[in-house]
Amino acid sequence: MIDLSTKYMGFDLKNPIIAASSGMTDTVHKVKNLYINGVGAVVLKSLFEEQIMMEIDALATSNIYNNYGDADDYISYYTRKHNIDNYLRLIEESKTEVDIPVIASINCFSIGRWVSFAERIEAAGADGLELNLFVLPGDQKFSSTEIEETYFDIIQSIRKNTRLPIAVKLSTYFTGMADTLIKMSHEDISGMVLFNRFYSPDVDLEMEEIVSSKIFSLPEENSNCIRWIGMISDKVNCDLAASTGIMNGYDVLKNILVGANAVQVATTLYKNTAKQINVMKQQMESWMSQKGYSSLNEIKGKLSLKKVEKPMIYERAQFMKYFGSAE
Ligand SMILES: Cc1cc2nc3c(=O)[nH]c(=O)nc-3n(C[C@H](O)[C@H](O)[C@H](O)COP(=O)(O)O)c2cc1C
Repeated sequence: MIDLSTKYMGFDLKNPIIAASSGMTDTVHKVKNLYINGVGAVVLKSLFEEQIMMEIDALATSNIYNNYGDADDYISYYTRKHNIDNYLRLIEESKTEVDIPVIASINCFSIGRWVSFAERIEAAGADGLELNLFVLPGDQKFSSTEIEETYFDIIQSIRKNTRLPIAVKLSTYFTGMADTLIKMSHEDISGMVLFNRFYSPDVDLEMEEIVSSKIFSLPEENSNCIRWIGMISDKVNCDLAASTGIMNGYDVLKNILVGANAVQVATTLYKNTAKQINVMKQQMESWMSQKGYSSLNEIKGKLSLKKVEKPMIYERAQFMKYFGSAE
């Protein structure tokens, strides 16, 4: 019997597959379906910081959240459709329907009164809170240090408003990546999700327009998780979940081998439905039994930077070997 259980954010998960925050986790019905199909935990679809602020300000007085143009229209629309009470109800009802950790999620980028909303998430019965933190470093007015300080300030102010375990979901946009991630892990947080994936721009050559690029990830995108989780997992002071490009059980194993405690998946659930969770578990079990492993603990972090014989492979970024040709 293979033991797929793992610990993440202080929770005992029966397996490391977590449904990532997305449209796959925005109703009780979907959460229950993921549970029935054997998911280890769920992260509910995110609320937006702007949404909370708009409700606090009774929809649209003059504040920074009203200066988005089209984005503001979208936020108003989204707010009407997914109001905050519905979100709290989603937490409450999910908790009555499933027996796995239910983690609420907030997309945020600045400090504001919205942080007090963490109390209501806790009161609604969520087991944890994931902060999807992203400050786009696109404004020259702010230095990298100032931008990074915002992340720490948000974490500290949320911490003052709840005792729930907190996870931070981050992007790859940090100048001193390892240093920032390791320092952040020493805040009072329990988990770090590496990495989020965003709407990114593409160019429609026919229309000569900027359009959104593909919403779903590709398996190749997982190599970023492998690099960074492998490089920092021996040094962080919190659990790690890998996210982006994890499609099957073999991908889960790779991320556990470099030091992740768990993984978060969205694309593969959209493409293959919740049934994919079982397929992934079977793939993990079959690899582990072939290799003679009986529990995930035996392989977790086995290939982290500190443990591998050739750490250079993590650190080498330039294609020196392939400069001549790709054969
Ligand atoms: C349609 C869609 C909606 C998403 N919505 C959210 C969200 O509300 N909050 C969040 O933190 N991440 C959101 N994500 C990102 C996912 O949680 C996940 O981190 C990302 O898609 C990478 O995982 P994947 O490669 O398995 O898709 C969304 C992803 C997709 C595809």
